[in-house]
Order: sequence, then structure tokens, then C-alpha cells
Amino acid sequence: MHDQGGSPSIADATTPSAGRIYDYLLGGNHNFEIDRIAAKGLLKDVPEMLQWVRLIRWFLGSTIRRLCDDGFTKFLDFASGLPTVDHIHQVAPKGTRVVYSDIDPVTVAYAREIVKNLPEIDFVQGDAGNPESVLGLEVVQRLFGSDRKVAIGYNGIAWFLPDDRVVHALEVLYDWASPGSRLFICDINSTAQTTDGDRLREFYQQVKQPVYVRSEKRFREMLGRWKVNPQGIRPLEEWLPIDKKSMEKATESAGGNLIGAILEKT
Ligand SMILES: C[S@@+](CC[C@H](N)C(=O)[O-])C[C@H]1O[C@@H](n2cnc3c(N)ncnc32)[C@H](O)[C@@H]1O
Repeated sequence: MHDQGGSPSIADATTPSAGRIYDYLLGGNHNFEIDRIAAKGLLKDVPEMLQWVRLIRWFLGSTIRRLCDDGFTKFLDFASGLPTVDHIHQVAPKGTRVVYSDIDPVTVAYAREIVKNLPEIDFVQGDAGNPESVLGLEVVQRLFGSDRKVAIGYNGIAWFLPDDRVVHALEVLYDWASPGSRLFICDINSTAQTTDGDRLREFYQQVKQPVYVRSEKRFREMLGRWKVNPQGIRPLEEWLPIDKKSMEKATESAGGNLIGAILEKT
């Protein structure tokens, strides 16, 4: 897993990597045979996973387009996964500055290879539960300067963190950002009829990732001082300008389970 210098190796094809499995589920080509085997095994247990990951990525794309339309040119993203398959810099106009981050060293190493020739994009290691680990890095100053009116991505991560860590992170980001900044976030809604929290937890136990499923009410409480924008907290599929046919499978299994919102610092 590590090269002689001690850095994680992206060429290690003997152990599945969460980031590359996710890339495979999204239909990307930054994955190895070992990842594809692991992904297929996971899909046997939780077949709807395929639609969930796509729904999350579609929400990301739709939100990025809205934020770019609203004039945002700087994005700070947590728990990014690999920057492939319609991720921020692939959706936003050229010139948009993006600081991606993820906790997984193999994902970070692979991602850095992918963006290494893009001067306006960088990818760093950081913990979404402890945003200070990213905010203090030189790259933030280098790409954003002193401008802190930014769009912050907190997508597809809240359910991997206990409540107190999400609350802490949102507080820190609120204090750091300038007024007018936005933050987009999604979560699993335990009160939606089709949620099967136990199966989800079982699935993630296999990849040794604890999962925290909460109600929409609790999710709303955790947003703290961030103001929910007028669209409100809505099921992810309601955010998407995608034709109904291509959404059928995703909403069949995930309808109402996944909720998202764009928040604003006022
Ligand atoms: C669902 S995927 C990423 C989704 C991506 N943000 C998107 O919108 O499509 C979750 C990612 O979270 C990362 N992750 C898990 N725990 C984390 C943490 N505490 N801090 C940062 N990243 C984390 C994993 O390594 C994985 O790449």
C-alpha cells in the first residue's frame, strides 16, 4: 500500500479502495479489478447502492450548476472521493478554483495524480469532522487568497460522522466563511418510509465504516446558524432537472431516503 517514501501508492491493485469502488459504482474508469470485484459483492447485498451513489452525484452536479449560476467561482469540498464522473471541476466553468479533500490516503494519492496538471484545482488530505485540518492549509490561501466567500461541499459524508462531529464541522465552517457563502449537504432521512437503516449499517460494517442514520428533524437541528435556502430540505431527486425515466430506478429505491439542502451564511 505504501511506496518506499512512505506515501500511499495509487498503483496498489491488491487491496480495494473505497474511492475507487465509488468511482466504479458511478460508472467511472479510475478503478482496478480488485475494486470491481468488491463493488459487485457489495451490490449483491445492497443492490440499491448503485442508484444511491448516482443520486448523490447528480445532486452534487445540480447544486454546482446552481451555485455557478449564482456567481460562485471558488469551491471547498469535503469527503470528495475521486474527482471523476461529473465532479465539481468537470461541471463548473473553466477557471473555477476547487480545493478537494478526503480522509482516505489512497483516494488522496490517486486524486492528486488526476488533477496534477490543473493549476486551479488541488486535492488535499483532510477530515470532514475536523475542517480545521483543511482550512489551515497553504492551498486554501493559494487558491482562494483572502476571499472567504466560497461554496462549500459537504456532500455524501454526514452519515459517516456522529452528530457532534457534524455540528462541530458546520460551526467551524460558519465561523470561517464570509457572509454570503453557501454550503450544500445531504443526509439519510431515517423517517422516510423506505429507509432500511439496519441493512445500510450492515453494508457499511463490511467496509468497516460506521454509519449514523438520523431523522430529518435532527438533521435540521444540526445545521446550527446556517440558514436553509428557500428551496428547503428536500428529497434529492426533487433537486434534479433530470428526466423522470432516468430517475426511475434511483427514486424507486432511494425515494425520500436521501435529503439535501443548500445553506447560506447570512
Ligand atoms: C460517498 S463518498 C463521497 C461523495 C462525494 N462527496 C460526492 O458528492 O459524490 C464518501 C467519501 O467520504 C470519505 N470519508 C469518509 N470519512 C471521512 C472523513 N471523516 N473525512 C473526510 N472524508 C471522509 C471517503 O473516503 C469517501 O471518499
